[in-house]
Amino acid sequence: MHNDIERVLFSEAALAGKAKELGKIITEDYAGEELTIIGVLKGSNVFTADLIRHIELPVILDFIAVSSYGRSTVSTGTVRLIKDLDFSIENKNILIVEDIVDTGLTLKYLMDNFQSRNPKSIKICSLLDKPERRKADIKIDYKGFDIPDEFVIGYGIDYAEKYRNLPYIGILKRSVYE
Ligand code: IMP
Ligand code: MG
Repeated sequence: MHNDIERVLFSEAALAGKAKELGKIITEDYAGEELTIIGVLKGSNVFTADLIRHIELPVILDFIAVSSYGRSTVSTGTVRLIKDLDFSIENKNILIVEDIVDTGLTLKYLMDNFQSRNPKSIKICSLLDKPERRKADIKIDYKGFDIPDEFVIGYGIDYAEKYRNLPYIGILKRSVYE
């Protein structure tokens, strides 16, 4: 285990199992349809890569990049668009793939932004949910795990751009950022 980790929350095996489980449900729910997956960079990159390999549908993959954290462990509340989609989503079934829903402000921004582009449908898949700090009302259609209000890293999720390469998800020691 990495020295900056307080405790491992989800092992590599648990994360692989969850990606497979969610991929199967998504495949069944969208049977006969094409699905446009939009990964929210950078945090959901690893989860998105695992998830799409368990979705047996015609899939289009796109990414959007937003930022609200910078070098902090607390959201600034202002969402900044860093990279827009490459493709039009008009009349497409959209599945937004996130790593964590915390305040919900990022997804609120993305939902409003995407709705205005007239997609056929929009749903949300998030690996993790931190319900304690929610400010915006967000419905997560496909959820991996609930987690407590702790700062987590690994499996694509960073603190100040580090730890994304850890294969598991763990709680970051407070001494690292306090
Ligand atoms: P929200 O806008 O507050 O819901 O924040 C969502 C985004 O904040 C997520 O996509 C993550 O990138 C980031 N985030 C929230 N909690 C954590 C955490 O515990 N570790 C790392 N990033 C986090
Ligand atoms: Mg994110």
